[in-house]
Amino acid sequence: MSNTLDITKAVQNLYNTYPFPPEPLTDGTPPGYNWRWCVPAAQNFALGWVLPPAPALHILDAGCGTGVGTDYLAHLNPTAQVTGIDLSEAALEIAQKRVVGSGVAERVKLAQLSLTDVQTLSQQFQYINCVGVLHHLPNPQAGLRALAEVLAPGGLMHIFVYALWGRWEIRLMQKAIGLLQPAGDYRAGVSIGRQLFAHLPAENRLVRREKERWALDNTRDATFADMYVHPQEIDYTVQTLFELIQGSGLEFLGFSNPRYWQLERLLAPMPELLAAARHLPQQQQYELMEALDPELTHFEFFLGRPPLSRCPGDETTWLQSIPQRSMCMMGWPSRSLLDYDYQPVDLTPLEQELLSQCTGECTVAAVLKQVPGATLDQVKSLHKRQLLWLNKPGISPLGDRPEWHE
Ligand SMILES: C[S@@+](CC[C@H](N)C(=O)[O-])C[C@H]1O[C@@H](n2cnc3c(N)ncnc32)[C@H](O)[C@@H]1O
Repeated sequence: MSNTLDITKAVQNLYNTYPFPPEPLTDGTPPGYNWRWCVPAAQNFALGWVLPPAPALHILDAGCGTGVGTDYLAHLNPTAQVTGIDLSEAALEIAQKRVVGSGVAERVKLAQLSLTDVQTLSQQFQYINCVGVLHHLPNPQAGLRALAEVLAPGGLMHIFVYALWGRWEIRLMQKAIGLLQPAGDYRAGVSIGRQLFAHLPAENRLVRREKERWALDNTRDATFADMYVHPQEIDYTVQTLFELIQGSGLEFLGFSNPRYWQLERLLAPMPELLAAARHLPQQQQYELMEALDPELTHFEFFLGRPPLSRCPGDETTWLQSIPQRSMCMMGWPSRSLLDYDYQPVDLTPLEQELLSQCTGECTVAAVLKQVPGATLDQVKSLHKRQLLWLNKPGISPLGDRPEWHE
């Protein structure tokens, strides 16, 4: 496709034909949580502590589609004003119905706008979510720079972009469909893709990959089209991802799927190699994991706009900070919980006692006094596992808590 306008128009047409995500509309609070959309949980992870609530918390969902993420952002941040922008009027129409049905419409503003024109809103945001969008822009670098300009100093951004190695079968099928499909006819593209998957040999690698990994998601045409019939997709490697980030002026604050990136996950049986890997610069450690486990189909991560208020991590600061149980876990009060990622966790009796004292009312020092035998390292371990948030000292803990259905 030749120029920026053509690409943008083609992407808009795709999502007008197949608004995404095709999640059904429901009434009331959306189920569960996604911690990446809960601003204090994101701050706790990315900065090491939760910042004082902004007097007016403004959140941008850039490329909000049919508003699934926008709806969660509003529910998980009950004092926030949320703005969702998207190119697709069909997607925005559904998003509007969604936020009306879930009861947050008065705090959500939706607008048809390209994220490259986001400065026309004349507003700054303390939190920006941009999931599954930048890789569909003709120039993702320019898109990220535009978002960076409206991110308030000290604010956080959560980004999701596609990864190259885990998507090569998808890219090949996209290419095949693109060669056979009448230009711009996305419905025909879906039909061609479905025929190919139905009739290529069962042992064909593209067919095998689709069956093993994606078929369940792809029963709906909108999901199939988003994957295989896309007019524009730029995939990233760790190296090109960090080039993208470098050009934005923002600071990388960590991947939001940290389990994938743990070196021990693959190297634990080889202690010498693990030790050597730990000596590599951080980006090369990521490159190593990417090379060894090419299942990765996307990158999801936090960026921040300096100056950032990070927890300094010294003992005095820890003792003076105010711990509070994470709102993104399920099953409390019990020793068997689901954590921020819905993974099962079994607490020791002492950890349970510690967590029960972490109500956001007193400092870590005071909590340690109340739980005989507890140590600062145990508090840090709960924090590292995101079961506990640390509030920056001197601030009153969060008043309004999100609600969700278990
Ligand atoms: C894959 S969907 C993701 C939707 C949503 N963020 C989610 O994750 O559920 C991509 C969305 O980005 C929108 N989009 C693509 N380019 C855009 C741009 N330049 N500005 C605003 N939205 C854009 C599309 O219209 C589409 O709704």
